[in-house]
Amino acid sequence: MRIDIITVIPELLESPLNHSIMKRAQAKGLLEVHVHHLRQWAVNEYGQVDDYQYGGGAGMVMMCEPLANAIDSLSRDRKYDAIIYMTPDGKRFEQKTANTLSLYENLLIICGHYKGIDQRIRDHYVTMEISIGDYVLSGGELAAAVVVDAVGRLIPGVLNDETSALTDSFQDNLLAPPVYTRPVDFRGWKVPDILLCGDPKKVEEWRYNEAVKRTEERRPDLLEM
Ligand code: ADE
Repeated sequence: MRIDIITVIPELLESPLNHSIMKRAQAKGLLEVHVHHLRQWAVNEYGQVDDYQYGGGAGMVMMCEPLANAIDSLSRDRKYDAIIYMTPDGKRFEQKTANTLSLYENLLIICGHYKGIDQRIRDHYVTMEISIGDYVLSGGELAAAVVVDAVGRLIPGVLNDETSALTDSFQDNLLAPPVYTRPVDFRGWKVPDILLCGDPKKVEEWRYNEAVKRTEERRPDLLEM
């Protein structure tokens, strides 16, 4: 899978995408992430990519021309399966969306800044608008990193133990059950006996029941979906 990201602050994407699982996905050649500085397509020699908004009001708006030129230029080399704009008024990002996106070959993500991007780019280019939650970040970069991470780890072969993505929280509308590691007794706090019984069927049943219990307690809305 290839993901292109358009941003005015590429530095914000460097660290999150170059460590741990994302680093491994790219090293294995399963994921390519290309970050493009929007200023390459600035409208003048001062690197301008934003301007005051029509109708007045505080905050700058990212201009049509640099964005359209950036998208056109990148689209000449490949057809994007989705052109995504990161925005707090987009559709809430969920595991299901991550699953869907992980099946695509080419994604283009636009990170907004300031007051956002000119509506005409949203109307004529963007095919999907994603919010990572009901709060406002300073820009779309951290949100884009969240999406790339959630999608990238689902690409077959990225995780060592392929089943581990299947047992993540949300994959069956269930939260993940509790997990334990050594020692078996820490300050008198014991690991549940059933996890030591050696019977995989019993363990599986216990995990399922714990997952249901946790979901009922914390996220009953998931069980109604
Ligand atoms: N940009 C600013 N806030 C955001 C959010 N919550 N989700 C996606 N993009 C954003």
